[in-house]
Amino acid sequence: MDLLYPHLTVNAAGHLCIGGADAVELARQYGTPLYVMDEETVRRQCRTYRQAAAEAFGPDALPLYASKALCFAGMYKIAAEEGLGVDCVSGGELYTARYAGFPAGRIYFHGNNKTDRDIADALDMGVGTFVCDNAEELTALDRIAGEKGKVQRILLRITPGIDPHTHKAISTGRVDSKFGSAIETGQAMEIVKQALSLPHVVLCGFHCHVGSQIFDIQPFVDAARIMTDFIAAVRAETGFLASELNLGGGLGVPYTEYDRTVDYAAAIRNMAAEVRSLCADRNVPMPRVILEPGRSLVAASGITLYTVGSVKTIPGFRTYVSVDGGMPDNPRYALYQSRYTALIADRPDAPQDTRVTIAGRCCESGDLIGEDMPLQTAARGDILAVLTTGAYNYSMASNYNRLPRPAVVMVKDGQARVVVRRESYEDLVRNDIL
Ligand code: LLP
Repeated sequence: MDLLYPHLTVNAAGHLCIGGADAVELARQYGTPLYVMDEETVRRQCRTYRQAAAEAFGPDALPLYASKALCFAGMYKIAAEEGLGVDCVSGGELYTARYAGFPAGRIYFHGNNKTDRDIADALDMGVGTFVCDNAEELTALDRIAGEKGKVQRILLRITPGIDPHTHKAISTGRVDSKFGSAIETGQAMEIVKQALSLPHVVLCGFHCHVGSQIFDIQPFVDAARIMTDFIAAVRAETGFLASELNLGGGLGVPYTEYDRTVDYAAAIRNMAAEVRSLCADRNVPMPRVILEPGRSLVAASGITLYTVGSVKTIPGFRTYVSVDGGMPDNPRYALYQSRYTALIADRPDAPQDTRVTIAGRCCESGDLIGEDMPLQTAARGDILAVLTTGAYNYSMASNYNRLPRPAVVMVKDGQARVVVRRESYEDLVRNDIL
């Protein structure tokens, strides 16, 4: 069957392998559910982005890893080693980045509702750039920075008014969005003027993010055009010339054999061509360009391994294959009806001769990994692998029904190591007070 990615192979025993490690063995050794990642695939994607951004936009271009996609200390270490910056959106992500020793100057701090405490903590930490979302935040940042005797470098989050045709819940660039200030309503220009008037912030440029899991290059090219136009309009109206333009993240990844693949380097070249020609056209110097990929850096590298429990066929309806995880470790089908590829890791080459619903073990009918999924005939005790779970699975995991969060194991050169320990029942009651 189509294993989607080259780091997924089948070994002599007929088992699924990830990065050269036998998935059935990993399940036996570390237990299930288990997130497994191939380190080389993550690093290769980081290098693809870095190299393509440098070639297309110039050597000062910087891809940031949008760490909401997969957040644990080891990921910040990889991002640092690969020369990326990071996008953090909460005090918790900032704390984890600091714990991992990530250089604070290369952190961009996002979020549409930063609390005073978030702002103070980020200032104390020396976060390089705040991406300010709205007027109140800007006022609060200026005040708190002033109290601390600091002047903070900022970008402003601008809503370019683009509908990228992705799932509504992950589309963020339209005018009616909880994020940023819209160009169309005039609020974007207003917030620029406000930022320029404040003594404790230094405005460097603008940020936009149109959405996530997007395969079409056009929304990115459109965003690049609208933002370059905005830079020119701001210069004309205020005299301020933006030196930095952050074009966000959002390029998609294939989850099934029917999804398109993306040539990330080509997409970056197309964006660059647009920004370059528009800058020349508007007589605006080329800004430093920042990109912010999350999913496309980590999704492909990850798989989740489960043990099959009950297999229940309801005549005339469907077959439920239940696994020992579910929406607590992967809420994406419940939230977005996201499609995945699944296979039995003990025999991935056997024909996928059944179509099943893969169910979790929560007390909730919507606790599904997918419906109408092709799968090898499954039996209790089989190891079931779900592919492309590196992004927005562990980072969105919960303890619903008091299920402990799975461990994360990283494979490198066929060798596995635990990078996040499995939660224990003791962990679950750690903060409970009798
Ligand atoms: N920058 C900003 C400001 C963002 O809001 C996001 C994602 C990214 C970058 C990274 O986007 P990516 O390259 O990963 O598409 N939980 C959803 C995805 C939510 C995306 C949120 N923002 C999912 O599971 O599909």
